[in-house]
Amino acid sequence: MANLHTEFCGIPIKNPIGVTSCDFGGHERLLRRCVEQGIGWIIGKTVHEIDGPHRWPRPYFYSLRRFGKDLKDAWVCSQMFHNMPYRKWLNEELPKCLETCQEFDVLFIGSCSGIGADADTWIPFLKDMAAAGVKMVELDTGGPHATFGAVAAHKAVGAPLAMDPDTAYKVTKACVEAVDIPIMFKMTPQCVNMAGVALAVEKAGAAAISANNAFYGCWIDHETGTFFGVPSSMGGLIGRPWQLFSLAKVMEITATVKIPVLGGGGSFTYDDCVRYLMAGCGVAGLCSSVYSRGVGVLEECVNGLAQFMDRKGYSSVDDFRGCVVKQFQYLREWNREAQMAGLTPIIPEFNKDKCTMCGICQKLCPYGAISLKSGSSIPEVNREHCFGCGWCVGHCPQEAIRCVHINTGELIWNGYGTIKDWVK
Ligand SMILES: Cc1cc2nc3c(=O)[nH]c(=O)nc-3n(C[C@H](O)[C@H](O)[C@H](O)COP(=O)(O)O)c2cc1C
Repeated sequence: MANLHTEFCGIPIKNPIGVTSCDFGGHERLLRRCVEQGIGWIIGKTVHEIDGPHRWPRPYFYSLRRFGKDLKDAWVCSQMFHNMPYRKWLNEELPKCLETCQEFDVLFIGSCSGIGADADTWIPFLKDMAAAGVKMVELDTGGPHATFGAVAAHKAVGAPLAMDPDTAYKVTKACVEAVDIPIMFKMTPQCVNMAGVALAVEKAGAAAISANNAFYGCWIDHETGTFFGVPSSMGGLIGRPWQLFSLAKVMEITATVKIPVLGGGGSFTYDDCVRYLMAGCGVAGLCSSVYSRGVGVLEECVNGLAQFMDRKGYSSVDDFRGCVVKQFQYLREWNREAQMAGLTPIIPEFNKDKCTMCGICQKLCPYGAISLKSGSSIPEVNREHCFGCGWCVGHCPQEAIRCVHINTGELIWNGYGTIKDWVK
């Protein structure tokens, strides 16, 4: 049985899977439902004192399910910080959350937000939480809600705060110096200069970086000709497909800094968590999937990770953590052909035993290079039209197509993993 025990910023945890900041870490009653699923850590809902108990436009969760099956896990959300008055949370809710986490051997990480770049507004939360026994705190910079209009109205809150290396450095440094517990800086995927901000907060002494906060988004109800939910851009574009984007942004960080990274964004399944670990993250988090699939998704991920590690023969998470970081490179550094205008040397090869002549490759070939001839047992490729793009390989439901080199017969790509670097 795989050993899932690991550590994050020197703190031992029973496994690397947890819940990032949201309602579930804000109230003991909700937190308990998550920790019962066997997770290793959970982050509290962001506390603040910006305008008293937070007021959100209600309702605040708008599922996009009715706009198509492909959007069933996507939603926009107008919810922001904790809805409980800070002192009430600190004195009544936090001790209960800490006690329950202790009972289930789960690491509780606090989360707070001050006012923009004014470090003095962040520090009191850190001191309060450290005194209460919180072992680590996340700085909730990078929230999506304040982005649109922020330039004119609230310059240094939300995502804009986490996009400027100098501001991120100043706030982080002051917070790190104020308390003895590890401080984690939360990134926004909207940051263009991800590596720059990551280096700045590492230099400022942050113990870790978490990435990513939610992207912002909005939706339009075409039937009513109005915005869907609140007429604003807010926390959104949530759902599994945005994992592709978040993962790339996370890798910009893990390929750049040495401090541990908490990775998440669009994680729904155990293999999503594995991807973040392979991308070099110390731990992997879920959030919106817990809302759209229920808390059971957490236990599925913990069990799925253990089964995956057993199947692969990994005895600990360290056996595969970060295994793809060194492979990550600038596309232009990958070997390229001198000239692509001629006939492609990379062509699809069909497996007679697997092909059912279903015609999907013919239908989807963007270049019209594949045809089905009656009497033939496999499709025919017109070399004049084929570009060797690989599209048919990925779409064949029978996995009957692979890309090979026409001269050598060498396998270039079978639809799994990295392509063969065939250009000499
Ligand atoms: C309903 C909801 C509430 C959230 N609240 C917070 C919050 O208070 N503080 C914070 O830093 N991030 C918050 N987030 C962002 C998540 O922690 C997470 O970073 C983001 O949703 C991306 O992960 P996901 O794709 O797994 O949802 C919230 C997300 C959701 C969906």
